[in-house]
Amino acid sequence: MSPLHDRGVISRYREYLPVTDATPVISLNEGSTPLIHSPRLSERAQRNVFIKYEGLNPTGSFKDRGMTMAMSKAAEAGAKTVVCASTGNTSAAAAAYASRGGLKCAVILPAGKIAMGKLVQAFVYGATVVAIRGNFDDALRLVRELGADGSVAIVNSINPDRIEGQKTASFEIIDELGDAPAAHILPVGNAGNITAYWKGYREFHALGKAAVLPRMIGYQAAGSAPIFYDRVIEHPETAASAIRIGNPASWGGAKTAIRDSAGSIGIATDEEILEAQAWLAKNEGIFVEPASAASIAGLFKCLEAGTGPLAETPEGSNIVCTVTGHGLKDSDTAMRGRGYAPIEADADIDSVRRALGA
Ligand code: F0G
Repeated sequence: MSPLHDRGVISRYREYLPVTDATPVISLNEGSTPLIHSPRLSERAQRNVFIKYEGLNPTGSFKDRGMTMAMSKAAEAGAKTVVCASTGNTSAAAAAYASRGGLKCAVILPAGKIAMGKLVQAFVYGATVVAIRGNFDDALRLVRELGADGSVAIVNSINPDRIEGQKTASFEIIDELGDAPAAHILPVGNAGNITAYWKGYREFHALGKAAVLPRMIGYQAAGSAPIFYDRVIEHPETAASAIRIGNPASWGGAKTAIRDSAGSIGIATDEEILEAQAWLAKNEGIFVEPASAASIAGLFKCLEAGTGPLAETPEGSNIVCTVTGHGLKDSDTAMRGRGYAPIEADADIDSVRRALGA
């Protein structure tokens, strides 16, 4: 494909990815998402805070980075059908990239727990959608069983190609800042992303492209925090449905990232997450889904605590918060959680002025 037509992460970072000329690149020009400087967060943190806005990927989440790799490699291996378990975003990305590549896609989801914006994506992109009476952890167990005989390719982040694609977000941050940040905060669910970021940072550090390595700071929802509590959560709950996970597949990867980077894992309550979601939209003009706001809630909690890896970074250093998915993915939770309602008015100027408090 002509470079003019392919601007995705495989084309941008080809030399650092396990692709060859034999790999059919299935891309929607994902990646190259904005790293937005956030003046109000920076003031609160006394550091330069940047938001890596992954909601601006083609299907509205960071999953597209991993999916371009996983789908391209599945196609290269001759797979005809891909399958994944999902809390919503992975299924949207899998469905889109499968249709792009001419593969069939089946998604296994926890019934009644997927935000509508994500569920509709799986359908419109043409996936076969199965809703199980169980949670994400059950869905992933079933997907492992489906994939065991090799008849379908699994495109969850237990597939190493997903991690390879997702590590490109670290490359972009280093390329843009000229170095890795002093700390990186991100939400943690199945823990593939924190694993991938750490891999990306280490690789560019080893190549001399970054002088420092960031402290990796993960945040889980308080009701779904297996890594924080260091035990499987049988019945995870949170309004941040994307990270409603009790037994993360990349648990070990997350622990390694946190330990080796001298980072930390923390928790935020649903209230703190929804508060941070509203704060970010209102103060910085960035609307993200609830799970993504866990990184902002996490930043606030680190600042309140005044100790821990963030507090140990020098004042004035660069901090990156990844916000993983677009706010429109789950407009229901934002509407209901905050109790938003318009001010009703009659269709005359006096009524409208009264409504405006003028
Ligand atoms: N943020 C969003 C918006 C997500 O969709 C996910 C995971 C995460 C954060 C956590 O990332 O799992 O790599 O630690 N969503 C998966 C899915 C589980 O099925 O879409 P992680």
